[in-house]
Amino acid sequence: MKTDKLTIQVFPGSAELSRAAADLFASTAQAAVSARGRFLAALSGGSTPRAMFDMMAKSPYLERLPWGKMLFFWGDERCVPSDDAESSYNQARTVWLAHVPVPEGNIFRIKGELGPHAAAEDYARQLKSVAEAGLDWPRFDLVLFGLGADGHTASLFPGSADTSGVATVAVTAHYQDRPANRVSLTPEVFNSARSVIFLATGAEKAQALATTLTGAREPVKYPAQRIHPAGGNIWWLVDTAAASLLPEKIDGVVFHR
Ligand code: 6PG
Repeated sequence: MKTDKLTIQVFPGSAELSRAAADLFASTAQAAVSARGRFLAALSGGSTPRAMFDMMAKSPYLERLPWGKMLFFWGDERCVPSDDAESSYNQARTVWLAHVPVPEGNIFRIKGELGPHAAAEDYARQLKSVAEAGLDWPRFDLVLFGLGADGHTASLFPGSADTSGVATVAVTAHYQDRPANRVSLTPEVFNSARSVIFLATGAEKAQALATTLTGAREPVKYPAQRIHPAGGNIWWLVDTAAASLLPEKIDGVVFHR
């Protein structure tokens, strides 16, 4: 079986990283539409992808991408109203999707205002509605992830149960000294993706990044280690500050500094 192909690219700063992320997202979208007639992406929240989202609302992506064939989901969402500043959907829509011709019906948001459990059930129904024949859940062409300084990704937090068999999970965690009522897709769905991109910038992510990529395998403690799409591509786009604790070489990894 094809194993995961893992590539790490190190950039001087956020601007260069965001441009590379936008280009990679765009080329993956074009390849998916050419091959299968549609492109399914799951976006992340957080501050890191904001600059990339802003770029993708403008030239050359605005005129070049097949927006009508691109479907947008989220890997996770906070349980807040859709117009809340904390909403990952609201960030992507305000900065990006409201400025490009994506049909409303191509945007599948997690309805966090329903509360974690109802929102998770509703989102599982939405996922099933667009799954390819023979699959329980959609196979994403691309999933975008961030990395928390504690090693979380999406809303899979350290110590959370390593779920299997379910597509979405209601999350009630304590994060950054406040309750994090969220909904997250699970590794069950993430790992059927064709490609995943992690973005990480800043020195505060250096320890989590180094441990996730080179530390002992502890997926409960370091949830980003749960993400390894079988036969998929994994890209880590990081800046020099986040990469500061990485070794010069990592076995089996394509490393571009
Ligand atoms: C969220 C994200 C979360 C995020 C990390 C990194 O909804 O917050 O899904 O997993 O990617 O917490 O966040 P920053 O990009 O803000 O550092």
